[in-house]
Amino acid sequence: MSEKFTMQALVHAGSAGPDGLRLEQVPRPEAGSDEVLVKVVAAGLNRHELFVIDAHTDDGPKIVGADAVGTIAATGSSTDSLRVGDTVLINPCIGWTDTEDVPEVPTILGGPVQGTFAEYVTVPSVNVRPVPPHLSDIEAAALGLAGLTAYRALFTKGRLRAGHHVVITGATGGAGTLAVSMAAATDAEVTVVTRHSSKIAQATALGATHVVVGIDGFNEKLHKPADLVIDSVGSASFPAAVKALRPGGRIISFGATTTPDITLSLRELFFRQTTLEGTSMGSAPEFDQMLQFVTDHAIRPTVHAVRPLSEAADALREMASGVAFGKTVFTIGPTGTPQPSPSADAR
Ligand SMILES: NC(=O)c1ccc[n+]([C@@H]2O[C@H](COP(=O)([O-])OP(=O)(O)OC[C@H]3O[C@@H](n4cnc5c(N)ncnc54)[C@H](OP(=O)(O)O)[C@@H]3O)[C@@H](O)[C@H]2O)c1
Repeated sequence: MSEKFTMQALVHAGSAGPDGLRLEQVPRPEAGSDEVLVKVVAAGLNRHELFVIDAHTDDGPKIVGADAVGTIAATGSSTDSLRVGDTVLINPCIGWTDTEDVPEVPTILGGPVQGTFAEYVTVPSVNVRPVPPHLSDIEAAALGLAGLTAYRALFTKGRLRAGHHVVITGATGGAGTLAVSMAAATDAEVTVVTRHSSKIAQATALGATHVVVGIDGFNEKLHKPADLVIDSVGSASFPAAVKALRPGGRIISFGATTTPDITLSLRELFFRQTTLEGTSMGSAPEFDQMLQFVTDHAIRPTVHAVRPLSEAADALREMASGVAFGKTVFTIGPTGTPQPSPSADAR
C-alpha cells in the first residue's frame, strides 16, 4: 500500500452487516511485478459481499467486492502485453489456472484479499481481459463472478445440452439470471423457480420457458422432471430439487442463500441414480470460455440498478430483502481528493 497516495474505498469495520460500511480514504495499493493497478469504473454486487460483511466483525477493516471493470492505471515490470489506459474486465477468481486442478477453496477478490469496491484495486495481470465488445462497462461489471459460476455449473459440471430440461433456483438473482440466459442460448428448456409472481414476466423475457412460483415442494409443480437442477438457494430448495430430477439426473449446487445444512436420504440418491456435484467459481480457461460464449450469443447480464458506491449499504439491504431481478452495479468516480494522474507512477 502507498502512504503517498490515497483512494476512496468502501470499508467494512466494527458492526457486522451493512451498518459497518463506511466510505473512507485509505492508502492506495501498488502493483507488484506481475500485477496491474486498475482504476475501477464500475463494480458489480454479489451476495458474496453480503455474506462476508455479515460474518465480519473484528479482524480489521475489510474492502469487499469481487467484480469490476476499469482502466489500467499502472503495470508491474513483467506485464508487457498490457498498457496503461486499457479498459479491462477483472476475473475475480485468483490463482486457478488448470480446470482439472480444483483448489481447496478458490481465492476470490474481496474475500481474503482487497476487493473492488474502491477507486483502485491490484490484481494479477493474468486476471484481466478486454470487455466483450457487445457490453457496456456497466453490464460487463455485472458479469465476472456470476457468469463464471453459472457457466461452470451449467456446462462443465451440469453437461447441459440443447433439449435438456434445466430447473434453476435463485434464478432471478445475479448468478441465476445469467444461468437462465446461458441455458436459453443453448436451446434448453428452462424452468425458473422464484418466490415472487411479480418476477414471472421478467423471467419469461429472459428465456424461461416455464416459471414456478414458490420454493417449498416446487417439484410438484413442474410440467415434467428435470434433467438438471442448478441450485443456489440451499436448504430451502434442496429437498424439492432432488425430487425434481428424472432418474439419472444431475443436481449442481453452488450456493446456500438460505442455509447450508440439509437432511437427505441416501436412498433418494442411489435408487434413482442421481448425480450430486458442487461447484464454485471456475478456472481461468473457463473464464475465457464464458466470455466467448457470452460474446457468441450476445448475452447481456441483467442490471437491476446502477447506484453510486455511497449507496452500498442500502443496496446490500435491498439484496437481503430479495426484491431485485438481476444485478446492482456501483459506479465509482473521483472523490474530489486530488489524485496523481494514472500515468505518473506507472512502472
Ligand atoms: N460458489 C460460488 O462460486 C458462487 C458464486 C456466485 C454466487 N454464489 C452463491 O449463489 C447464491 C446467489 O448469489 P447471487 O449473487 O446471485 O445472489 P442474489 O442476486 O441475491 O440472488 C439470490 C436469489 O435467490 C433467491 N432467494 C434469496 N433469498 C431467498 C430465500 N430466503 N429463500 C429462497 N430464495 C431466496 C431470490 O430469488 P427470488 O426472489 O426470485 O425467490 C434471489 O433472486 C448465493 O448464495 C451466493 O453466495 C456462489
